[in-house]
Amino acid sequence: MSEQIIRFGVIGCGLMAREFASATQRWGHLLNMDVRPRLVAIADTKPSCLEWFTDNLCDIAIAVSDYRELLASPDVDAVYCAVPHHLHTQIYGDIIRAGKHLLGEKPFGIDLAANEQILAELRAHPQVFARCSSEFPFFPGAFQVVKFIREGRFGKIIEVEAGLWHSSDLDPQKPINWKRMIQFNGEYGCMGDLGMHPLHIPLRSGWMPRNVRALLSKIVPERPDGKGGIAPCETWDNALLACEVETADQHFPMLISTKRIAPGEANTWFIRITGTKFSAEFSTKYPRTLRTMTYRPGQPQSWEVLDLGYTPPYATITGSIFEFGFSDSILQMVAAFCDELTHGDQMRQPFGCATPEETHLHHRVLTAALESGRTGQVVKF
Ligand SMILES: NC(=O)c1ccc[n+]([C@@H]2O[C@H](COP(=O)([O-])OP(=O)(O)OC[C@H]3O[C@@H](n4cnc5c(N)ncnc54)[C@H](O)[C@@H]3O)[C@@H](O)[C@H]2O)c1
Repeated sequence: MSEQIIRFGVIGCGLMAREFASATQRWGHLLNMDVRPRLVAIADTKPSCLEWFTDNLCDIAIAVSDYRELLASPDVDAVYCAVPHHLHTQIYGDIIRAGKHLLGEKPFGIDLAANEQILAELRAHPQVFARCSSEFPFFPGAFQVVKFIREGRFGKIIEVEAGLWHSSDLDPQKPINWKRMIQFNGEYGCMGDLGMHPLHIPLRSGWMPRNVRALLSKIVPERPDGKGGIAPCETWDNALLACEVETADQHFPMLISTKRIAPGEANTWFIRITGTKFSAEFSTKYPRTLRTMTYRPGQPQSWEVLDLGYTPPYATITGSIFEFGFSDSILQMVAAFCDELTHGDQMRQPFGCATPEETHLHHRVLTAALESGRTGQVVKF
């Protein structure tokens, strides 16, 4: 099959960039793709961060500490950028001004104003295709829930609940990292770090809240600074957002939670939608299990449990009875980015990566949540 090559650069060669690079290296896992990413350039201010890439990838022609050199190369078509949040506006802006397509990490700007600057840059460069990373909807169970929403299966929606929960910050001895510092992660704290993940499917479904009441928690007030001292934890550990959603034909409560301190949870993303006719629930804690309940008045209320196996949006070589995991969701997300970049609305399956407009809506929700946390009031949009 003839295929189009997208030559990628990566800026910020840390945790997530290695996941992205690994996905490009196992592209053969996907079946029938007519587009292929090739990782040709990397940039990180820390030379040691480049080593894993140069040791493991054979197409790297540019490995630099100044990302502007990467952007100056005519041999780079698109950039995956995964840097701390305070750098998003400057670096995403430079990527867009260089005319490179962008798969940027969330939250796509450290705050609402930063996000609006990025979106203004995109409006000034309409030839640039930009999307925000959000991989969990590409799990087979999540993808099924999206399908149920599209099919309008739920009847009157009773309630929506979605969240992303971590537990590693329960350990008070864990040294502080940039996610606990306002300067690098913004005032949002856990909401900026995790919020795009649970909001992606609701926002794609048109469920922008009309108001929000937020309960924000700081649980561990200080941590070892890694240099023998103690540093204050400035950002929110956990957030519970109680939202009211009203659309043309639905009106329901939606609970969005983002937690850095949820005892026992490693990286649990979940969505649960209950309705008068149908309910569905998926959690990455049980990655192959989809729970659904069809209800007919007067009939028994019985949840069904289905082992979905490996049935993601893009077909792969993996047998359908096997398990799906985090790195598989990154591969599927990168496939969606490349597919949509190449084919636009003719992409192979209907669920694309989070759009810049969706990042803006999510910033509006998080900014309102901060105000609600401060005032104790319900904040309307
Ligand atoms: N999608 C997800 O599931 C997910 C998970 C974790 C983090 N993230 C996001 O990814 C982004 C990065 O997070 P991470 O956990 O990979 O962080 P990280 O600290 O592991 O990596 C960030 C890298 O950026 C580099 N860097 C800093 N300044 C730079 C500059 N000026 N030029 C080039 N490189 C620079 C650092 O040296 C580091 O290697 C954040 O936006 C974060 O929210 C997404």
